[in-house]
Amino acid sequence: PVSWYKYMQKNKPITYDPAFTTIFGSEGAWQIFPHAAIQDVLVNHQIFSSEVMPKTDDNPYSRAMTVTDNPRHKQLRSLVSNFFTIKSIVKLEKKIRKIANDLLAAKLEDESMECVQDFATLLPIQVIAEMLGVPYSDRDQFKKWSIAFFNDPSESEEGAMSYFQSQNEMMQYFLLLIEERQKEPQDDLISQLLTSEVDGKRLSTDDLLGFCILLLLAGNETTTNLIGSAMLTFIEHPEVQEHLSMNFNDIPKAIEEVMRYRSPVQSTYRIAKEDTDFQGHSIKKGDLVVVWLGAANHDESVFPRSEQFDINRNNHSQMAFGYGIHHCLGAPLARLETKIAFETVFGQCKNIRLEENANLSIRQSHLVYALNDLPITFE
Ligand code: HEM
Repeated sequence: PVSWYKYMQKNKPITYDPAFTTIFGSEGAWQIFPHAAIQDVLVNHQIFSSEVMPKTDDNPYSRAMTVTDNPRHKQLRSLVSNFFTIKSIVKLEKKIRKIANDLLAAKLEDESMECVQDFATLLPIQVIAEMLGVPYSDRDQFKKWSIAFFNDPSESEEGAMSYFQSQNEMMQYFLLLIEERQKEPQDDLISQLLTSEVDGKRLSTDDLLGFCILLLLAGNETTTNLIGSAMLTFIEHPEVQEHLSMNFNDIPKAIEEVMRYRSPVQSTYRIAKEDTDFQGHSIKKGDLVVVWLGAANHDESVFPRSEQFDINRNNHSQMAFGYGIHHCLGAPLARLETKIAFETVFGQCKNIRLEENANLSIRQSHLVYALNDLPITFE
């Protein structure tokens, strides 16, 4: 929470916490809270490596660019970067608008919806399906798997079953899709990757699976969380909601401020490749480093009165998409999807409010800031 970030920034801005448990299960990590120090870590990728997990065959994600250092990182990134430039993304605009419009149309008559399940979850999944080239006839299946994929397997036995089953089914599905594209290439990302080479060699099937899983993981839940948090923030600030519904041009800067104010990704990890003196702290080779992007975005020295949501503040240096060579590749897409989501909603709905007696459940972990559900009403 922001109060903890502020406490740490003031009292222990860079500190080693021996009890910190990461998603990899290891204990102990450096914790970095100030905006400037976080930038230093992320820029210094020769020392602070992204290879925080071993590359294994049974975990295709371990081969993804996010957890790979240069030179291979750069090679992998360049294979798909043309799909994510503003020029390419704009080509998707019409389709995104149709997806958003169809999702909202199904709820207009009710004048209410569960914004996370009915809208914010489904929009990015359908967009990614479009990019990967998942055929229309498979979209419902794909949606089901993707949603199950984001269940926390530790939450319930049933959740775990559906998580592992859908993970398996989805891998099998991607393998089939890869095979089909091998036989008959299309104008989609998988077909492009099939003919790509790194160091004169085609990508392995595991590499291809790694790409597919990365795009699902990196692109879906994050964008869902951004749309959900933005909706909540606009409900909490009715004057902003009213302003935006009459001034669509200001929607992008409002979204940028939501990214700062409630960052969908709260932290990311690096691992020290060598012993180093970092701003007076002796970091040892192999030490894990947690950089708190959510804290950077509430650093008072960069964002005065950080707890105020202010769409007119200068937030160019917000770090919700990371910083340096691993800066989010999907940022233009996430921005466009969210902009279209709110143009669609504000174009057709007014007086958006939380449903009466709604119990908001916010999930804030080391990694994410997310809403479990967001029941809303509108006119
Ligand atoms: C990397 C956040 C949406 C694809 C990152 C990183 C962050 C981030 C913080 C850097 C991680 C690190 O340095 O360790 C977000 C947020 C999003 C979002 C907050 C939505 C609001 C997307 C979308 C896609 C995507 C829609 C693609 C469909 C990627 C990829 C990387 C990445 C491929 C790895 C880049 C690299 O390693 O060079 N994202 N992301 N992201 N993101 Fe996003």
